[in-house]
Amino acid sequence: MNRTAGLNADLLKAALTGLTGPDKSMDPKWFYDRAGSALFERITRLPEYYPTRTETAILTAGIARIAAHVPKGSALVELGSGASVKTRILLDGLHDLAAYLPVDVSESFLRQVAADLDRAYPALPVVPIIADFMAPLRLPAAYADHPKVGFFPGSTIGNLEPDRARALLASVRQWPGIAAFIVGIDLVKDVETLVQAYDDAAGVTAAFNRNLLVRLNREAGARFDPDTFDHEARWNPDLARMEMHLVSRVEQGVAIGPGMARFAAGESIHTESSHKYTRDSFDDLARAAGWRRDTFLSDAQDHFAVTVLLPG
Ligand SMILES: C[S@@+](CC[C@H](N)C(=O)[O-])C[C@H]1O[C@@H](n2cnc3c(N)ncnc32)[C@H](O)[C@@H]1O
Repeated sequence: MNRTAGLNADLLKAALTGLTGPDKSMDPKWFYDRAGSALFERITRLPEYYPTRTETAILTAGIARIAAHVPKGSALVELGSGASVKTRILLDGLHDLAAYLPVDVSESFLRQVAADLDRAYPALPVVPIIADFMAPLRLPAAYADHPKVGFFPGSTIGNLEPDRARALLASVRQWPGIAAFIVGIDLVKDVETLVQAYDDAAGVTAAFNRNLLVRLNREAGARFDPDTFDHEARWNPDLARMEMHLVSRVEQGVAIGPGMARFAAGESIHTESSHKYTRDSFDDLARAAGWRRDTFLSDAQDHFAVTVLLPG
């Protein structure tokens, strides 16, 4: 973490850029401090949050078809690995992996998860990489000559605007030795199911969203009162995406380090988008980034899909 005077300088800069103008937004990567990562894990177990259990079932049923695209001696590189729970389906089902390289911004959470995996898979080198997956990725030199297989589950790709999603897909396509990219995508579906998944009855997603303000107070010298912001989940039909917002209940000014964010009552911070795909819209995106979509595994309700992309 880049620290100046005890503050997280990168987060402070992002907050001053994202929150002091008229259209307020933050990159969702800032959700994931240790508390945010733990809250996300709770979200994955909520009854309303269909993506995790659906993707888990698809991976479990489809592991043999996925394994067919993974060369012997591959390094498995997971982007936004989080708790690496679903990864275990791959680690159990793929034989002869050279290493597992989880990439995440949530530093202490990633170190803990890597230590747990080390104990569970003593024969497999687990090398955590603390990095922003949007930046050029430096993979350990020890695996330079190994085939690489990318893994990007959890519909994290949906958090990226389409041009950034294309850029990310294109940059993975350039990894030396890239053999396949396994990507989990959330599919367009009825609005009620979507809204409930992002606004659960127990309020865990609301706590996850508000935790961003708690983090800004702790790490960026901000003075938010999180209780003055409502969590809102909205479907945006024009852009086929769910959006999460934090909506100020009152007119207020909030100090952020040396700056000031001014809110009208009802004004929001757009904290996350989650783009939903169709088979065709994702195929188009993958093709534009130099991939050929080979495998498309989905559930009976077509709620979620796991795809295998091959160099096109
Ligand atoms: C939606 S969660 C998915 C977690 C896990 N892969 C799953 O499928 O349950 C997104 C994960 O990506 C990480 N993340 C988000 N933005 C990132 C970025 N720009 N660079 C690296 N990691 C990021 C978060 O810390 C979090 O662990």
